[in-house]
Amino acid sequence: MSLELGGVEKTYGDAVALRGIDLDVREGEFFTLVGPSGCGKTTTLRCVAGLEEPTAGTVRFDGRDVTGLAPEERNVGVVFQHYALFPTMTVRENVAYGLQFDPPAGSVAARVDELLDLVDLPGMGERMPDELSGGQRQRVALARALAPEPDVLLLDEPLSALDARLRERLRLEVKRVQRELDITTIYVTHDQAEALAVSDRLAVMHDGRVAQVGEPEAVYDGPETRFVAEFLGENNCLEGRASRGVGGETGGSVVAVGDREFAVAGDHEGPVTLCVRPESLDVTASHNRFDAAVTDVEFLGDAYRVHFEWNGRPLLARLDEPPTGTVTLGFDPGDATVLER
Ligand SMILES: Nc1ncnc2c1ncn2[C@@H]1O[C@H](COP(=O)(O)OP(=O)(O)OP(=O)(O)O)[C@@H](O)[C@H]1O
Ligand SMILES: [Mg+2]
Repeated sequence: MSLELGGVEKTYGDAVALRGIDLDVREGEFFTLVGPSGCGKTTTLRCVAGLEEPTAGTVRFDGRDVTGLAPEERNVGVVFQHYALFPTMTVRENVAYGLQFDPPAGSVAARVDELLDLVDLPGMGERMPDELSGGQRQRVALARALAPEPDVLLLDEPLSALDARLRERLRLEVKRVQRELDITTIYVTHDQAEALAVSDRLAVMHDGRVAQVGEPEAVYDGPETRFVAEFLGENNCLEGRASRGVGGETGGSVVAVGDREFAVAGDHEGPVTLCVRPESLDVTASHNRFDAAVTDVEFLGDAYRVHFEWNGRPLLARLDEPPTGTVTLGFDPGDATVLER
């Protein structure tokens, strides 16, 4: 099932939640909506589920306009952040509740067992929800959402109440289940690392709009706005002025930031924002070298996250060795992203 949102707007009285959302989600795709709190992720998901009616715009499933249809007419499975299991029902009864029709008794039991196997909870059917860990409860919620064989799976921060390690393990589980069923999925998270890790494609949302859509690597390496550059991973963004064709040996452009000029790849002219990822700043780089003062060092286990001050601005670098005092950093012209302002 492919999904298409065209010009979807949603207002609540004076409050504007969605300012015009256009999205195409492909059949079988794991598609993620990522963005800061309040940007409209849940509202978008609820419009797809039919739990919310858009103020304007259309929602299509396989080209068919479903904008006015009730949730039960759309065949979507939904899992929310907070465990919505019935506390007085067993795991088995919770999952069976997700079965829409009244199949013969024997086949319900078989289907529930199949679903519990799918989410890796075999033999847990007789437990009560309060006898399960948070991660196990979310697996049951996923099994219940998948019980009626939905065409579309909608997940709204299903892992955000869990601790970091469990979240990392379960996101792989969710992805495995999604692959196994080949089900079109929209996954909502505010966690950019999670979005980068699991998505086939993702949409970065900002203030009721879609800021950028693409494969994780493409959006990470090629942000089109400063918001995306800084939201997806960390970035050093410096405002400067670009001049074309004076890149010297590197053949690109130069960007003047204050009285320092940096060589960059590509043709750029006029006011720009120069973005360099912390992992692109390096003490051994042979281009664009400058001296910066260390202000803080954080040990990450496999590297150091080092805070610098350069010309009164903070900069961040990811280095293998902890530096002290003043250090010469540099970066490859091809590693910088230059955004027009
Ligand atoms: N029922 C409502 N009435 C009024 N305003 C609402 C309602 N639901 C959402 N909003 C507003 O719409 C905007 C988008 O909300 P939404 O819940 O979609 O954000 P979100 O991206 O899911 O945020 P979070 O990451 O915090 O869950 C917010 O400014 C919110 O306050
Ligand atoms: Mg939300």
